[in-house]
Amino acid sequence: MADTGTLPKLREDFRMQNKSVFILGASGETGQVLLREILKENLFSKVTLIGRRKIEFEEEAYKHVNQEVVDFEKLDEYSSAFQGHDVGFCCLGTTRSKAGAGEVEAKVEEFNFDRYTIFRPAVLLCNRKESRPAEWLARKFFSSLPTSWSKDHSVPITTVVRAMLNNLVMPSDKKMELLDNQAIHNLGKAEDVDKP
Ligand SMILES: NC(=O)c1ccc[n+]([C@@H]2O[C@H](COP(=O)([O-])OP(=O)(O)OC[C@H]3O[C@@H](n4cnc5c(N)ncnc54)[C@H](OP(=O)(O)O)[C@@H]3O)[C@@H](O)[C@H]2O)c1
Repeated sequence: MADTGTLPKLREDFRMQNKSVFILGASGETGQVLLREILKENLFSKVTLIGRRKIEFEEEAYKHVNQEVVDFEKLDEYSSAFQGHDVGFCCLGTTRSKAGAGEVEAKVEEFNFDRYTIFRPAVLLCNRKESRPAEWLARKFFSSLPTSWSKDHSVPITTVVRAMLNNLVMPSDKKMELLDNQAIHNLGKAEDVDKP
């Protein structure tokens, strides 16, 4: 893993490359934070959201964000939406019953990307608007525990997003990286993003 002390320089180098990115799942909890940070950091010259519906934004910062609405059941018909991007983030989810998220990791390998990273966080800590009683209970539980213990079983979404962006700008000769909850904490703690 690259020295996180060099992150500001790596981020600046990355910014200078004027790369383009698409984000899947930008309306979700992780995707929202990721998009906000990408725009705040001005990391890409082109940002495209690919989703099953258009997202309404009011803030000025989002005015140059492109959006492509696709049918995820017929992705072959929407390949042009994905073309012309250097980087892709997938924050699609979420529960197996809703999106079959467990199949995603296996499918990613089939795309033969130059490089890809799979993040496996434990319980995501955020203020979710959608009602999910089990997740709500888990978040309450982990929030009440000593930090050292809760870190093994949960992670703030802001830390996950920082880990994703730090991983993005760090050069790697590995084709595939897999980050578990501990690795996400380690990489994401380098610099915290703003709290939501
Ligand atoms: N929540 C946790 O504690 C937890 C823990 C570990 C791992 N994860 C994983 O982390 C990832 C992100 O989680 P999250 O909590 O940020 O997700 P989330 O808030 O539930 O957001 C899910 C996103 O996926 C989209 N989506 C869901 N079903 C879809 C479908 N059938 N077709 C197209 N788009 C669909 C949603 O779009 P719409 O807005 O249109 O619905 C939304 O943008 C997921 O893969 C999840 O399994 C979550």
